[in-house]
Amino acid sequence: MPQHVAFIMDGNGRWATQRGWRRLRGHSAGAETVRCVIRCCRDFGIRYLTLYAFSRENWSRPQEEVSGLMTLLRDHIVKQEHELHENHIRLRIMGQREDLPADVVRELERVEAATARYDRAHLILALSYGGRTEIARAARLLAERVARGELEPQQIDEAAVAASLYLPDVPDPDLIVRTSGEQRISNFLLWQSAYSELYVTPVLWPDFREPDFRAALEAFAARSRRFGGVEAKPLPKEKTC
Ligand code: IPE
Ligand code: IPE
Ligand code: MG
Repeated sequence: MPQHVAFIMDGNGRWATQRGWRRLRGHSAGAETVRCVIRCCRDFGIRYLTLYAFSRENWSRPQEEVSGLMTLLRDHIVKQEHELHENHIRLRIMGQREDLPADVVRELERVEAATARYDRAHLILALSYGGRTEIARAARLLAERVARGELEPQQIDEAAVAASLYLPDVPDPDLIVRTSGEQRISNFLLWQSAYSELYVTPVLWPDFREPDFRAALEAFAARSRRFGGVEAKPLPKEKTC
């Protein structure tokens, strides 16, 4: 079982347009999948769940869609708070939170603070998130420490960069699932995904349910994670070619 699963929740727009509906209806349906996936993680014993909910690039979408998504986000946080407490889930945000509307940030930070004491499970929302922005921000933070004389340039290594990311205590994702069939990373967790297993399903996010999650976990269980090393396997007895 992976300790950390991250989702690129994709396909809401297509799910709605296939039905002749507005894209926002797809986002509302996708919010139901979020509830389902949180429950699955609780039942499967997955400690860290990261959801890519809004990228920095998503700000370029039509204003109506962006504001609809922000309203949906705020309403959902309020609706789900009870379930977070019930299941001792800590809500955490990664991304440029200052880009978000003030009322959304207020609600998110209130729930972040209210659930900060929980450690059984972590729900991480990537909001106004971009992997390149995160790495550039880490570089800036390190440069500022050098300028203040707190750090020598020679001390900047992988561990120092990792410690300057948004959530340094969170382990790298073991598994990254992308729905809707697109085979790209779209600026998600560029640093942390170095050795993550990738799983792409054609299922659109609003249709993604427990059996689809199980299929992803089964595929993960069948993978051989070598981290650049070699797998200790006995040699075959006979020549195979
Ligand atoms: C993912 O669904 C949700 C967000 C990016 C906020 P999309 O809105 O990208 O859906 P498609 O890819 O257009 O179908
Ligand atoms: C990635 O999906 C971002 C989120 C799921 C929040 P997009 O739909 O924005 O990605 P592209 O444009 O297909 O790469
Ligand atoms: Mg998309």
